[in-house]
Amino acid sequence: MVFKKSILRFITCGSVDDGKSTLIGRLLYDTKLICEDQLFTLIEESKVIGTQKGEIDFALLVDGLAAEREQGITIDIAYRFFSTDRRKFIVADTPGHEEYTKNMATGASTADLSVILIDARKGILKQTKRHSLIVTLLGIKHIVIAVNKMDLMDYSEDVFEKIRQDYLEFAHDLNIENISFIPVSALKGENITNKSVLMDWYHGPSFIEFLETIDVNLNDISSETKKNAFRLPVQWINRPVPDFRGFSGTIGDEITTLPSGQRSHVKAIFIGDKKQNSAYSDQAVTLTLEDEIDISRGDVISKPSDCPEMTDQFQAHIIWMHQNEMLSGRSYLFKTCNKTASGSITKINCKINVHDFSKEATKTLSMNEIGIANISLNELIVFDPFKVNRTMGSFIIIDRLSNDTVGCGMIDFGLRRASNIHWQNLTINAQTRATQKNQKPAVLWFTGLSGSGKSTIANLVEQKLYAMGKHTYLLDGDNIRHDLNRDLGFTDGDRVENIRRISEVAKLMCDAGLIVLTSFISPFYMERKIARDTFKDRFVEIYVDTNLEECERRDTKGLYQKARLGEIKNFTGINSPYEVPVNPDIHLRTEQSTAEDAAAIVIKYLKDKMLLQQH
Ligand code: ADX
Repeated sequence: MVFKKSILRFITCGSVDDGKSTLIGRLLYDTKLICEDQLFTLIEESKVIGTQKGEIDFALLVDGLAAEREQGITIDIAYRFFSTDRRKFIVADTPGHEEYTKNMATGASTADLSVILIDARKGILKQTKRHSLIVTLLGIKHIVIAVNKMDLMDYSEDVFEKIRQDYLEFAHDLNIENISFIPVSALKGENITNKSVLMDWYHGPSFIEFLETIDVNLNDISSETKKNAFRLPVQWINRPVPDFRGFSGTIGDEITTLPSGQRSHVKAIFIGDKKQNSAYSDQAVTLTLEDEIDISRGDVISKPSDCPEMTDQFQAHIIWMHQNEMLSGRSYLFKTCNKTASGSITKINCKINVHDFSKEATKTLSMNEIGIANISLNELIVFDPFKVNRTMGSFIIIDRLSNDTVGCGMIDFGLRRASNIHWQNLTINAQTRATQKNQKPAVLWFTGLSGSGKSTIANLVEQKLYAMGKHTYLLDGDNIRHDLNRDLGFTDGDRVENIRRISEVAKLMCDAGLIVLTSFISPFYMERKIARDTFKDRFVEIYVDTNLEECERRDTKGLYQKARLGEIKNFTGINSPYEVPVNPDIHLRTEQSTAEDAAAIVIKYLKDKMLLQQH
């Protein structure tokens, strides 16, 4: 190894004004910043395995960021390096603003230890509890509480002792192996590098002495539970990179690749350009194998006797990080260390109350909330539960439209349902049924405000299609909400689920050979896009464009009036959003034409696009 001194990665958590920056500034100043030999090793490492053509690659020290950088997401987080005679340190410095949780979780994902600052004047705050829960969920087992600003409390032992007791009581149910408490004044430099004479009642180490001597590896999760688990996610076919603890491999070892399950033996190991006999955890290696087996990017190589698991459905703890709430049923991207798969949250089991860790029922997660949910993906992933392997068991959640990281998660366990259900190939299929009906199945997706005229126009279109001998079915919002979707209301989450189910039903009906008309407000772009992606060129989005004033004037069901009186919550256009279609296939402006004209426009479009031809 090039690094000789051990490295401690830690994160500082605190609320605004707790003195985080002062503490970090003090550490950097007192230890005289990055020392020369550390810089030297970084330069050396960069030449061998860096991605910067031999230039210094700081990413080697902050690998947690690589995934975000690939997607062009900037995480507002600064990694600072400093060193003493005994150890080197990387501290993730996360500024305390509204995206704080996101930055903190990113910093914590690679940290060994967390420093939690508590202002001696304020004691334990809700933020302190939230941060403690998040860092423990992210697998950090060592926490040091820096009770700061002791100078403002006369360096009082009683103040310190009270905070210590309060925290221990709170943390009782958290899975922390090692909690330490140090009274400090970052501003005055008390108990930072030297023992403070003003707090002679405190007999523990100074802050820096603590950081220099704490043994984080002893209780490290990977060494504890899976000492020799070998996990090598394939990054490039000619250049796989492992960065997992617990890996060690030797020439001749038998390996297996997942998901395919093929086996081979290690023929040669390269580190950089140099051939080696074996490799250890955290080294970037290239392997050559004895057999030509099929491996692609995203596969994971492991030992046959100790394979990771595979699943497309699992339960996970989730930390939600975006101001738009998490919605079950909505399609997101889930990025694990080896794969990015689309999928959705199928069920939110509960959210966790940060005060007492009790579990509360919920239909959604808001920004900074933590919950437990089931997730279903569209393809298999290779994983280990998070408590066994932090890297193989974690993922981030990405919004498909904005590409924002909206959450992160830790896999609890795989749900095995999927592996027992097989797709039955039937002799009579979509094609044969459509041929029998002499038509091309398609989905005519009407969207628009309540009262815009969707159902009236869809009804006329269906009559015309019927008269032409077509086999159709009209799914209508009001009707479906009486039966199949009677359990759903009008929150954003319920609307997403409403439309998800409608897309699924439409899929079955298309498969049955029908031309399906759907008439739902379907207010969100994302769910309409998912439907379009499902049906591809068989999808016709019809925007029934009637402005709000006109819908309100018509108010055929009297609902707008009730909504204005505050009797209906979440009414579309009034206190619930409608995302106008950007590029609909058909744009019907109902104020300028009758329903009959509008229906004729739809039929003409279908004829022009040859959608009414025989199959
Ligand atoms: S969607 O938003 O989930 O697509 P959907 O089309 O099924 O809505 O149902 C809309 C119909 O439900 C409206 O035409 C109206 O008759 C009725 N409705 C009752 N409450 C609301 C509400 N809060 N917002 C919108 N529509 C409502």
